[in-house]
Amino acid sequence: MKITTHTGPWETLSVDALAWPLTTAMQPQRGLDSALAGLWSEIGAEFKGKAGESLVLHRPPGEHVRRHVLIGVGKQADAFSLHAFGSQAARIAGKMSAKRLAIIVSDPAQVRRVVEGVLFGDCHLRAVKDGNGSAIEELILCGAVENCDIAAAQIDGDAINYARELITAPANELGPVELADRAAADGRAAGLEVEVFDETALRSMGAGAILAVGQGSVRPPRLVRLSWAPQNAKGSGHLFLIGKGITFDSGGLSLKPADSMEKMKYDMAGAATMLAVMLAAARRRLPVRVSALLALAENMPSGTALRPGDVIAAMNGKTIEVINTDAEGRLVLADALVYATRLGATQIIDAATLTGAVSVALGSVNVAVLSNNDALAGHIRAAGQSVGERFWQLPMDEEYLAPMRGDISDLRNASAERKAGTITAAKFLEQFVSETPWAHLDIAGTAWTDKATAAYPKGATGVAVRTLLRLVEDLA
Ligand code: BES
Ligand code: MN
Ligand code: ZN
Repeated sequence: MKITTHTGPWETLSVDALAWPLTTAMQPQRGLDSALAGLWSEIGAEFKGKAGESLVLHRPPGEHVRRHVLIGVGKQADAFSLHAFGSQAARIAGKMSAKRLAIIVSDPAQVRRVVEGVLFGDCHLRAVKDGNGSAIEELILCGAVENCDIAAAQIDGDAINYARELITAPANELGPVELADRAAADGRAAGLEVEVFDETALRSMGAGAILAVGQGSVRPPRLVRLSWAPQNAKGSGHLFLIGKGITFDSGGLSLKPADSMEKMKYDMAGAATMLAVMLAAARRRLPVRVSALLALAENMPSGTALRPGDVIAAMNGKTIEVINTDAEGRLVLADALVYATRLGATQIIDAATLTGAVSVALGSVNVAVLSNNDALAGHIRAAGQSVGERFWQLPMDEEYLAPMRGDISDLRNASAERKAGTITAAKFLEQFVSETPWAHLDIAGTAWTDKATAAYPKGATGVAVRTLLRLVEDLA
C-alpha cells in the first residue's frame, strides 16, 4: 500500500472512497454538509456517530469522490477509536474493492493511529477465499498531516501484520526450527545480530527447562537471541524482550481437552510479538540498545515427553517439580529470563500467552501486567494508553508465591489450587529475574479474538506490538 498526503481541500480528491471519522457530538461537518447539499438533517436521523456505526453514500453528484464513508468513533476521537476507525475504513473499502482510499484527518498527533488501523484492517491473513494480502493500493491522508511520521507508521503497521501472520500460521508449517529460521533470516535482513541455540547449545548452557518442555516432540526446541545495538544508542541501558514461543501447546501428557485445542498454535504469540518489535526497531534505526530472546518449543505428549512429577533444573540451578506439563510456558520463560540477566539486562519485559485464568480476570479487553517494578508497569500502561491498547496491572504480593513453593524442589510449576492463576504464574517467573526491573505481559486473553469487533477482525490481534514499540521509542 502506498501512503500519500493531500493538503488541499477534499473536494479536489479523486478517489474510490473518502472516510470520515465522526463523533456523537458532531456538527454537520464543514464541507461534507455542502457536498451533501443539505442532506445532513436527514442523515443525522440515521447516523449517530456511535462507535462502529457506518454509512456509505454513493456517487454524490458532481464530485470526484465516488463514495463518502461515514464512520462513528463514539464520544471522542482518541488513540483507541481512531485505530478502530482506520481498521473499519479499510475493511469497508476492501468490501467495495476501493483501490484508492482517502481519509480525513484532523489531529496530526493521531495520524499514526489511523494509518496503523488502516494497515491492520487491510491485511487479509491467509484469506484462502478472497486471496491473500492487501486490497487497497493507495491511502491518501487528507487534512492535518504536517509533521506526521508516515514512514514510522508504515513500519509499525507492517510489524503488527507480520506478527499476526506468524501467529496465524498453522503448527505443521511453523515449528520451533521453522520459527527460529524465520527470525534469523528476517532479523539479519533488518540489520539485527542473531544467534540461534540448538539442543546441543541449550544443553551446554544449562537450559534444562526449555529442553524438558521440548523433549516430547520430534521437533527440537530453540532459543533465539536478536540484538539491536546501534552506535548512537542512548544511555547505558539494555532492554530485553522475552517471548514465549510454544508453536503448539497440546498440554503434553497433561493433555488439553480436544475442544478448541486447534487454537493452541497461537501459543507462540509472545515470541512473534517480540520478533516484530525487534524488526521494526531496526528498520526504524531507533537509537536504543534492545535485545530479544525467543524461547521456542513444541509441547507434545509422547514416550519421551516430560512427566508430571519429574523434577528439572532451570539455568540458574533452581529445581522445579513439574506438577502439570500444561504449565509449560513458565518453564521455557524461566531459562530465557535467567539468560537475559546473565547477558546484562537492565530491564526485562516478557510477553506470553501464559494462563487461561487471565481471561477470567480481564476478558479479552486488557492485557495483564505483572511486575516487580511499579514504575516500569506504569510506563507500559501509559504507552498502551497513548497508542490505543489496554493494560491492567495485577498485584504481586509475596503471599501469592506460597502455593508455588515445592516439597522436594525449590518450586512447583503449578499451584495446588486454581485461585489467582495469572498471579501465581507471574510469581513463579519472578524467581528467575533476580533484582532486575521486570514486567510480564499475559496476552492469553487478548492475542486472539474469536469475534470480530470494530477494532479487530477475527483471529490474531498483534496486541502489544504497538505499545512495546512506543516504549522502545520512549527510551530513545
Ligand atoms: N498456553 C496455555 C494458556 C492459554 C490458555 C493460552 C488458553 C490461550 C488460551 C498455557 O500453557 C496453559 O496451558 N496454562 C495452564 C496453566 C495451568 C495448568 C496451571 C492454564 O492456564 O490452564
Ligand atoms: Mn500449556
Ligand atoms: Zn502454553
